[in-house]
Amino acid sequence: MRLKDKVGIVTAAASGMGRAGVLRFAREGARVAVVDLDATKAQQVVDEIVASGGQAIALAGDLTDEAFARGIVGETVARFGGLDFLWAHAGHPGPAAIEGLDLADFDFAVNLNVRSVLASVIEAIPVMRERGGGSILFTASTSGLVGSPFSPVYSAAKFGLVGLARSLAKRYGRDNIRVNALCPGTTDTPMLRVFVARPDNPATQGQDPEELVRNRGASNPLGRMGKPEEMANAALFLLSDEASFVTGASLAVDGGSTS
Ligand SMILES: NC(=O)c1ccc[n+]([C@@H]2O[C@H](COP(=O)([O-])OP(=O)(O)OC[C@H]3O[C@@H](n4cnc5c(N)ncnc54)[C@H](O)[C@@H]3O)[C@@H](O)[C@H]2O)c1
Repeated sequence: MRLKDKVGIVTAAASGMGRAGVLRFAREGARVAVVDLDATKAQQVVDEIVASGGQAIALAGDLTDEAFARGIVGETVARFGGLDFLWAHAGHPGPAAIEGLDLADFDFAVNLNVRSVLASVIEAIPVMRERGGGSILFTASTSGLVGSPFSPVYSAAKFGLVGLARSLAKRYGRDNIRVNALCPGTTDTPMLRVFVARPDNPATQGQDPEELVRNRGASNPLGRMGKPEEMANAALFLLSDEASFVTGASLAVDGGSTS
């Protein structure tokens, strides 16, 4: 088992890639905190893990609430006695507009995509240092590697996470804390529908969201969307000891779209 006896937190874990991640990590021996805004779905994921013989807790709340984003670390430590990995996966597509942009929409997107991540990291670092090390993973995006004309705020936030991962990797390497960024390409989850069909995106207005999703998937070299389980596979590698010499990396898992 690749995460035997490890304790981990995954945010946005009631759906999509985060859900695929916690189910997989539990099968690999980890005890996991399933963090999500949706309490019912988070509990369903926990029930699924427990029914398969794993251990998990649901922590339901809004990560844009600083106290909650910080508190998930203490709650996990209180329940499982430590923390070995944190996958800060939650994010939001943010606005597509520039002209006419309401900066409150910028604030919301940056709050969830970056500030909430940092809030959890602030708490995780001392716990991991005390334990002799740990692994932190941020979900950036291919929009954190290349510009995204109709997701400029999202792209700025995700570039921010890549910069944060690189900086923290350098800062905490001697504490044996690794920090990496996962950069998914188009992946078949509910958020993808929100992303492609934002009403303030002039490039897609009036188009069918499912058609947009199909076209996006077909545009990379592999000619299809990613699956949540494929992102979970990459996250599993980066969070496990198999990646013991990998830190500060930004791993594109994108069917070759940024190649
Ligand atoms: N799907 C894609 O194509 C794609 C591509 C690149 C990056 N990403 C990134 O992946 C992450 C989203 O994951 P997904 O695609 O698996 O999405 P998803 O839609 O399957 O799941 C998102 C989950 O986040 C939870 N959530 C939303 N707001 C929250 C909040 N404020 N506090 C706590 N939980 C909250 C939702 O309840 C939901 O369960 C984001 O960081 C996104 O930027 C997605």
